[in-house]
Amino acid sequence: MEKLIPLVNQLQDLVYNTIGSDFLDLPSIVVVGSQSCGKSSVLENIVGKDFLPRGTGIVTRRPLILQLINLKEDSNMNAPGEDAQQDSSISNANISSASLEKESDREGYAEFLHLPNVRFTDFGKVRAEIENETLRVAGANKGINKLPINLKIYSKHVLNLTLIDLPGLTKIPVGDQPTDIEAQTRSLIMEYISKPNSIVLAVSPANFDIVNSEGLKLARLVDPKGKRTIGVLTKLDLMDQGTNAMDILSGRVYPLKLGFIPTVNRSQSDIISHKSLSDALQSENSFFANHPAYRAIVNRCGTFYLAKTLSNLLIAHIRDRLPDIKARLSTLISQTQSQLENYGVFKISDKSQRGIILLQAMNRFANSFIASIDGNSSSIPT
Ligand code: GDP
Ligand code: NA
Ligand code: MG
Repeated sequence: MEKLIPLVNQLQDLVYNTIGSDFLDLPSIVVVGSQSCGKSSVLENIVGKDFLPRGTGIVTRRPLILQLINLKEDSNMNAPGEDAQQDSSISNANISSASLEKESDREGYAEFLHLPNVRFTDFGKVRAEIENETLRVAGANKGINKLPINLKIYSKHVLNLTLIDLPGLTKIPVGDQPTDIEAQTRSLIMEYISKPNSIVLAVSPANFDIVNSEGLKLARLVDPKGKRTIGVLTKLDLMDQGTNAMDILSGRVYPLKLGFIPTVNRSQSDIISHKSLSDALQSENSFFANHPAYRAIVNRCGTFYLAKTLSNLLIAHIRDRLPDIKARLSTLISQTQSQLENYGVFKISDKSQRGIILLQAMNRFANSFIASIDGNSSSIPT
């Protein structure tokens, strides 16, 4: 069933690249919360890379659609033609393909949709590119823009997930921000989280009263019964001495079917002193393992548990939607088929060639989908 996510990611790409829209409307995980509550930190921890722009004030000013792709699972599923494309990007990079292959295998690599054929192995450059792209489209005046940045990260160390990072909610415009910045941000967030097939990751800092959590307030508007909202608590290390978050974690304070997961991310001084992510994950683990209250629930705390939970959720979510996805696929296949018949077999144009490739790929995907439903329906993770 884990294989389903790379499959769905590829299908999404295929449809996007051929008919230019997200026809299948596939599920994803949307991160929301107030500014500085720790959204970027949580995302970086899940990915295991330093790659997101940070700083004071509003940094995330365009939606970032982040596809994480596990290399091990994905490696034998390349569509035809994909290898040739990768070869050309490797020769552009002026490094022998063999050495880059090894490096990117070991460390992972990233690709932006707006920069086809450019493979990033330096994640500092990924951050710079996000900053450039944000400036290019959203301008320098701290305003936000709805046009998303699409980024894929391939790594052996990630689980297959699609995550969407959104600008954080700000109550008061700062500097030369537009006066309606809060309304703009709110409507952008609502656009993403109101989709019934999105999973809302509502991030709240544990050192502030949970009833004031902006992320949870928005999540409640679109998911009043708390069925597709998962609570993430950050900054557990900043809670007052002698207090803890057990009330929230137990679900007594704010009921969510999917519950709350506590995390500890790098502090600002950790970031200034260049504490590595792997050290940060170790500190997080020992924080929970040695804490008098969290010790007993350590296996349900922290970033790794969060990532695993999200992956399982996404799989369960996709599984629920499979009948609908299959129906959409059939429609798409028969539409393509009749388009091809209209072109005629002997008029091989660019367009009909692409149509044939699309149709063949669709058929392969449809067969894999059916195989994975038939083969895995008894072993569904919860
Ligand atoms: P965002 O605006 O929601 O994306 O928040 P960031 O991830 O950029 O974090 C804002 C600030 O809070 C940064 O200085 C982080 O270092 C700090 N921070 C985030 N999470 C934690 C945490 O769990 N503990 C501590 N001590 N600081 C954190
Ligand atoms: Na919040
Ligand atoms: Mg951020």
